Amino acid sequence: MRILRTIAEVREAVTHARRAGKRVGFVPTMGAFHEGHLSLMREARAHNDLVVVSLFVNPTQFAPNEDLSTYPRDEARDTENAEQEGVDIFFAPAPAEVYPDGFATTIHVAGLTDVLDGASRGAHHFDGVATVVTKLFGIVRPDVAYFGQKDAQQVLVVRRVVRDLDLDVRIVACPIVREADGLAMSSRNVYLDADARQQATALNRALDAAQALHDGGERDADRILRAANTVLEHAGITPEYLELRDADTLEPVADATRDTLLAVAAHVGAARLIDNHVLKASS
Ligand code: PAF
Repeated sequence: MRILRTIAEVREAVTHARRAGKRVGFVPTMGAFHEGHLSLMREARAHNDLVVVSLFVNPTQFAPNEDLSTYPRDEARDTENAEQEGVDIFFAPAPAEVYPDGFATTIHVAGLTDVLDGASRGAHHFDGVATVVTKLFGIVRPDVAYFGQKDAQQVLVVRRVVRDLDLDVRIVACPIVREADGLAMSSRNVYLDADARQQATALNRALDAAQALHDGGERDADRILRAANTVLEHAGITPEYLELRDADTLEPVADATRDTLLAVAAHVGAARLIDNHVLKASS
């Protein structure tokens, strides 16, 4: 595995591979790898000739009051893990390489970013994500890029950027990877102390309760949300949001008759956690 720091080096390596007819798979990350990240790398490895992983803790997607300075970082461990997964190129640029003096462009996706995490974290969050992902796509020029479904809204935002800007990359969303007790894996889980770690299991239990109701034929949004909220209340969690929205457009829904995203965000102990289930129309 080659560890590269500059855009020029990555361009050269990828251009070389492309000329040799290789298919390029790309996994953008902010590091602090867990099984969720590794599952994306495995998927990329299984379907591509050249696998590129980026590690860049993107400052523009953090608000001033968020955890940019404390965000978990362990590049040595991350490079080891990536190497074990058969990654070919590990791109870990410095902030000034990505955002040189004079950088002045922002990609803003209207509509989709006004709700859920866009509403609770602020518009800067998805502007930062859309801008850095577009930039990384421009650097790596992958055939396929892999994202985790845990960040369901991020996947929709990235798909919309790709569609609206005619970017020649296919987006693959990979399933959420969970701990044995159902907690969705997240780099931010390291912020949880033992009590909060236990309390955090309520997020997926709440989604499971709603899912069970939906599986039993319930379609009324209020009743489905009430089932989830009851579990959260019992665990002493007040969600930042707990919402049912159309899984493609993120429009609010009164009933879950189409594929519907049930999304939750909550502060548990020192961590802000998100999780979701897609309630399938066919189930
Ligand atoms: O999901 C993440 O880790 C980040 O939002 C991403 C896609 C790497 C952009 O910084």
